[in-house]
Amino acid sequence: MRVLVTGGLGFIGSHTVVELLEENNEVIIVDNLYNSKIEVLEKLERISGKSIKFYQYDLLDKEKLDSIFAENNIDSVIHFAGYKAVGESVREPLMYYTNNLISTLNLLEVMKKYDVRKIVFSSSATVYGEQETPKYVETMKRGETASPYGTTKAMIEKMLEDLYASDNSWNITILRYFNPVGAHQSGLIGEEPNGIPNNLMPYVMKVAAGKLEQLSIFGNDYPTPDGTGVRDYIHVVDLAKGHVKALQNSPDGLNVYNLGSGKGVSVLELVTTFEKVNELKVNYKIVDRRPGDLPEYYADPTKALKEIDWKTEKTLEDICKDTWNYQKNNI
Ligand code: WQD
Repeated sequence: MRVLVTGGLGFIGSHTVVELLEENNEVIIVDNLYNSKIEVLEKLERISGKSIKFYQYDLLDKEKLDSIFAENNIDSVIHFAGYKAVGESVREPLMYYTNNLISTLNLLEVMKKYDVRKIVFSSSATVYGEQETPKYVETMKRGETASPYGTTKAMIEKMLEDLYASDNSWNITILRYFNPVGAHQSGLIGEEPNGIPNNLMPYVMKVAAGKLEQLSIFGNDYPTPDGTGVRDYIHVVDLAKGHVKALQNSPDGLNVYNLGSGKGVSVLELVTTFEKVNELKVNYKIVDRRPGDLPEYYADPTKALKEIDWKTEKTLEDICKDTWNYQKNNI
């Protein structure tokens, strides 16, 4: 299949490109390099041994986007491109609504023009909001999202639902990620957030590498086994494979799947596993809770196993080993 991957040089997009090529798909990448680096393209070609067609275009430029479809006979799209920093979205909501929504509308309109009706969309468990309690399951209604970033994901899901309701010839798969972490075993590609990381794992990685002084653990008074926050960490390679399975196995119509392990892991459990697996110490202190954090967030992943034959295979130890291996190769 000839697959256009938007945001294909980003953290999850790049790992998905590797798995798509592994399964003998032809891949075309479009990425504006806002939150990714051109060096990743050469690394993807090195890992896969294949050349990859790349367009450094912004999806907000509808004419440029149209030219990609005019020049290539595209069968399907995996749509990753979008701003994704929760804190930044609170400070810059208009930037997030403009970028994430308009770029998606441009993409869907151009797909319709060229009769490309198969799309896998990168959504987030954050659309469940805060009203429900785990395990999160796809039949739950979307809730009050906690940030403009999360709201753009919920709005795009609604756009896709309305599009499908208007025209059942679309094949739409919405994938809701829990907490993506880890890196490709080659150590060539991994997570490189801009600036000081907000998320736990990249922060732990930088503290372990001596690039940041100390990890602050946000609260140890939650109603959880050890008092620290519990999340569903999913290895980015497992996540990438979930996209290939979705492309290959999604039933007709519009389908939504959680991509998570189904297992909750606490902050302290992740930190101590990282220390043990990599034989190092992570300097941390316990501080107050972070506003907006929930005690627990993890998936019910059974629907993805049943319908697209996907489940996580990597362990927390694999996550910690591969993350540190990436950092060591890129210090
Ligand atoms: C995980 C746990 C923190 C940093 C975010 C986004 C969500 C999704 C996944 C895209 C929590 C604790 C964290 C730190 C800490 N992204 N923590 N010290 O908040 O579960 O979800 O990433 O879809 O939209 O909100 O991830 O990694 O920030 O936090 O103690 O320096 O680690 O309190 O319990 P989160 P996170």
